[in-house]
Amino acid sequence: IFPKEVEVIEVGPRDGLQNEPNLIPLEKKKKLIKMLSEAGFSRIETASFVHPKWVPQMANSEEMAEYSRELAITYLALTPNQKALERAIAVQAPQIAVFIGATETFNRKNINRSIDQSLEECKDLFERAKKANLWIRGYVSMAFSCPYEGEVAFEKVRYVCDELIRLGADEISIGDTTGKANPKAVYERFSRLRDLYPHTTFVAHFHDTEKMALANVVAAMQAGITKFDSSIGGLGGCPYSPGATGNVATEELVHMLEQMGCSTNLDLHKLREASRFAKTLSSRIQ
Ligand code: HMG
Ligand code: MG
Repeated sequence: IFPKEVEVIEVGPRDGLQNEPNLIPLEKKKKLIKMLSEAGFSRIETASFVHPKWVPQMANSEEMAEYSRELAITYLALTPNQKALERAIAVQAPQIAVFIGATETFNRKNINRSIDQSLEECKDLFERAKKANLWIRGYVSMAFSCPYEGEVAFEKVRYVCDELIRLGADEISIGDTTGKANPKAVYERFSRLRDLYPHTTFVAHFHDTEKMALANVVAAMQAGITKFDSSIGGLGGCPYSPGATGNVATEELVHMLEQMGCSTNLDLHKLREASRFAKTLSSRIQ
């Protein structure tokens, strides 16, 4: 029932750092992605072309993108709107990611648009991105619970998935942004998604607020999921998701998977070194 191999996608340089209150020097961010690239990831999320006023920590994403290219990293870049896509195309980013909340309140707080306005904007954005040969990830945030609206009905998640898949997303990352999902809910939700969209590639993106992220990974694997986002050192959180902590820690995830005989093609020793360094960049994790 468990897969022999999974893809672990590192989101630490983006999700891990975006919420850090003190600006981290570019050189340190570069050092982090160099260490991560040496651990063997197929993909790393290293850039976020959001508005620098909204998320100041991501302001030097152009430089991070350039450096990712120098290191030959296949990187993901967040692109919430057309302006962001232009920035991504200008640096020839290989993969982009749009992010839409399953709840109206979160989506407005996070990207200043209603869900339908965001999906409408995605139409042109996807068309342009496909012309530029970009791989498109669609994130669905608040897929289990929301700090503003409480428990999130499955139908709301399904609505956003329907639209993103219809527009041609290459993969969908389902976000437990608050980190409050539990293994039963995860198993049920991912099983339903797999039944509804058998041809879609789903990724699971767990935050670890309630310390159930590893258990949630196992539950998602039991539902057939083989791709997971994680953040080195467990850093991270979304500035518009109050109270949430970081993603499942990459080194803990990889350790668990290897113990289960599930290959990740990652070097755990190098990950642990990168984790020690990543934690020195964080004001919250020691
Ligand atoms: P807005 O203020 O509504 O933008 O922001 P606007 O369209 O009204 O434009 C206002 C001005 O901003 C204009 O300039 C634009 O050019 C400029 P002016 O004409 O006034 O001089 N502008 C930009 N500048 C640079 N880059 C841009 C950009 N867009 C407009 N991309 C926007 C809308 C989406 C930009 C803003 O709300 C934003 O940046 N939000 C990002 C929030 C964010 O980064 N959240 C964290 C990431 S999501 C997450 O963490 C969840 C995830 O991990 C999954 C999970 O855990 O569930 C992915
Ligand atoms: Mg996240």
